[in-house]
Amino acid sequence: MNDRPAAAGVSLAFTVNGRGVSVAAPPIERLSTVLRDRLGLTGTKVGCDAGDCGACTVLLDDAPVCACMVAAGQVAGRRVRTVEGLAEEALGRRLQAAFQRLGAAQCGICTPGMLMAARALIGREPAPDEAAVMDALGGVLCRCTGYRKIVAAVREAAAETPPPSPPPAGAAVGARAPKVDGVAKTTGAEAFGDDVAPAGALVLAAVRSPHPRARFTIGPLEDFYARHPGIVRVLTAADVPGANGFGIYPHIKDQPVLAEGLVRYRGEAVAAIVGEAGAIAALAPEALPIEWEPLPPLIGIEAALAPGAPVLHAEHPDNVLTRGGLRRGDLDAGFAAAAARAQVAIETAFVEHAYIEPEAGYARRVGERIEVVVSTQTPYMDRAEVAHVLGIAPERVRIVPTACGGGFGGKLDMAVQPLIAVAAWLLDRPVRAVFTRPESMAASTKRHPARMRGRAACDPEGRLLALSFEGDFDTGAYASWGPTVADRVPVHASGPYRVPDVTAASRAVYTDGPPAGAFRGFGVPQTALVHEALMDDLARAVGMDALAFRRVNALRAGDATASGQRLEASAGLIACLDALTPHWETAHREAAAHNAGGGRRRRGVGLGCMWYGIGNTSMSNPSVIRVGLSAEGRVTLYSGAVDIGQGSNTILTQIAADALGLAMDRFTLVAGDTDRTADAGKTSASRQTFVSGKAAERAGRALRAAILRLANAGDDARLDLAGARLVVADGAGARAIALDALAADANGDVLLGEGTFDPPTAPLDGDGQGVPYATYAFAAQMAVVEVDPGLGTVRPVRIVAAHDVGRAINPIQVEGQIEGGIAQGIGLALMEEYVPGRTENLHDYLIPTFGDVPEIVSILIEDPEPLGPFGAKGIGEPALIATAPAILGAIRDAVGVRITRLPATPDRVRAAIVARRAER
Ligand code: FES
Ligand code: FES
Repeated sequence: MNDRPAAAGVSLAFTVNGRGVSVAAPPIERLSTVLRDRLGLTGTKVGCDAGDCGACTVLLDDAPVCACMVAAGQVAGRRVRTVEGLAEEALGRRLQAAFQRLGAAQCGICTPGMLMAARALIGREPAPDEAAVMDALGGVLCRCTGYRKIVAAVREAAAETPPPSPPPAGAAVGARAPKVDGVAKTTGAEAFGDDVAPAGALVLAAVRSPHPRARFTIGPLEDFYARHPGIVRVLTAADVPGANGFGIYPHIKDQPVLAEGLVRYRGEAVAAIVGEAGAIAALAPEALPIEWEPLPPLIGIEAALAPGAPVLHAEHPDNVLTRGGLRRGDLDAGFAAAAARAQVAIETAFVEHAYIEPEAGYARRVGERIEVVVSTQTPYMDRAEVAHVLGIAPERVRIVPTACGGGFGGKLDMAVQPLIAVAAWLLDRPVRAVFTRPESMAASTKRHPARMRGRAACDPEGRLLALSFEGDFDTGAYASWGPTVADRVPVHASGPYRVPDVTAASRAVYTDGPPAGAFRGFGVPQTALVHEALMDDLARAVGMDALAFRRVNALRAGDATASGQRLEASAGLIACLDALTPHWETAHREAAAHNAGGGRRRRGVGLGCMWYGIGNTSMSNPSVIRVGLSAEGRVTLYSGAVDIGQGSNTILTQIAADALGLAMDRFTLVAGDTDRTADAGKTSASRQTFVSGKAAERAGRALRAAILRLANAGDDARLDLAGARLVVADGAGARAIALDALAADANGDVLLGEGTFDPPTAPLDGDGQGVPYATYAFAAQMAVVEVDPGLGTVRPVRIVAAHDVGRAINPIQVEGQIEGGIAQGIGLALMEEYVPGRTENLHDYLIPTFGDVPEIVSILIEDPEPLGPFGAKGIGEPALIATAPAILGAIRDAVGVRITRLPATPDRVRAAIVARRAER
């Protein structure tokens, strides 16, 4: 619990979950604060403190309210119900079970709010229809699920159904198993970054620049300290004990923990104020004496590349952080031989991750070590970065990931970590921090805005001959993942197609924008917009159906990619397209009938295809997983892979369970803690199922082999655990192993299996030729939209998504990724644009809500990947990449205009329609 002061408080009596409570609190304090900080009921989550996200929804006298918008004084004498009380009633338990059974909770940060809004609904309407659910829950945002499974779960909760049960031994892979952490997510027990700090921890608040570019000086602090009792320390750049720079790459640490006299983007931290909770809560950050000298900022790629533009980082005098490129065949010859040619130019905006959980955690010094407990996607990278900033060895840093309330790439970069680590290290007291919503949006990384041009050519039969791509990516003030984007984009620029002659060039460009980093796709979602527009244009040019055109050109097993890599197996795009075909034909018939009706809205159908290399680009990215068996018969999966909601905790357990030969409900999980687990790499690049999954399979098999050796049993032996007694049975009979008679290691395990996997890749040469990835995911998605030509509004009607995942380890999780990815793809296509200073909250920055996500049909194609665990590949990023191209294609099909500046907001769509009419 936070230490909230009772000063100016009054005694408030009310009931919470049927029990009377009395707290002393200021009457204007938020109910969410009272619940979380004074009563310890952290199941109620806070995503915005502004009434925008609904994560804090509780029931007040049975009506759903945002607890962040209710003053404590308003609840005196009334009844409050929170997620912690849900299991005390049958209806609540049914809702929780339905959420678990249908995979309606991914990261789980929105789940308490969803459950409470749903509880209010079915309390008054026992069997709601879909529209009623969407209406009642419409004020709660989810960034993970795409909402469809939440709607289904609420409707299913109307009926009495048994709680979900895990699959039996040997049947875990392929099962629609409930999440291993699903109960915690639906009861409010899941602890996120702001739920874990010890009582009495100091609180840290960063002071950030209101200017995109400015010099600054911090004045004398004596007065400030004197006027602010309870403030313990103001940290500036001079206080950082190690290197005042961090960054993803070992050779690029260009982002300061605290700026040194110059800020390069709005939201950059210049100081950190640390104090008692009450003192920080009462503080106005502008109280710190800072003098600003605003400078003209470089906003956008064009300004940064203009001749004579100021240099943002001395080592990059042209403001280009890095370049990527690929060359194969003879581009000019390809174009010269073509029957049809097409070209396109497309621009995209900064896109915000908008995870509902803001960045949060705490740090404490333990002797000569530091422990950082934090919401993160990458504990081992955090460990190295914190060590760098503190100037100590990585072994002296322990990172303990909390549950992660959404990441999508945004929690691959450090946020609170270096600030709280420095503060705790210097002060030798626990220090906690949570970003406010505007702070989170201003300070965190974004998807790179892109300025792209493409050309392509084909022969009369529609066979692709040549494709060229040039793309500039606004990497903002600091490098973050800019080099990764610049490297990944050229490999993917020609799309999942056979193209003999290709050139592709990318640049990551420094500007005074927010640092652009990793966001579900590393530049591939932007790039796909170009190759898919080109496919549509070429298909039209040669008079072919858009799907048939792609089918002619789709990469197949045995083909060579643009980087010269021969695809050995598992290239299921043709199967995806075949699966879409009946939906495509039906959708076109329906659209023709709809449009013939002469209604105001025009209906269109579009197609998007994609491929995505799983894991790092031409770089080693190993994972190590361990499975232990204790003297008491407990099976432990030691996994350094962080589950950010995508379900890796469950999927790795399923894989390890079948590899070992025991049921997955035998397993407990130790996840992420760098002192207790080996490095499984970061949760990014859709790599955890493929890379850590393979390591988990090997670990399970290694433990099984150790058991079989001990029992002298054959490969086909069946394992049975009964407490400390392990029975191994094969054709020769059954043998019992007394586990408690074996020597235990420091973790209490008597037998241990370890598995390692590093996907085989090869470096790219100067022409981008090589083996950048061990395997690729493929997908084709179809979008049906309706466009109002008079208003420019676009309404998605249906998305059908066929994804080659190699093997669906857990189909419900895979569908969840697809649905959530599609929702984010809809946001990219139609509404999301981060503008510093203007869209720094969740009411000005629009993400899809219940009403924005249409019916989704997911089709799982299983073209097994021989390298993957049980044939699996990955799905996290592939899920969204094809959506925006499909939607843009559908808009064009509906009203005949191509949108070349994303998002396709009504004004842009309307302007394109008007411009087209003017051309005629
Ligand atoms: S935290 Fe209350 S609505 Fe977002
Ligand atoms: S599950 Fe809804 S925000 Fe993550």
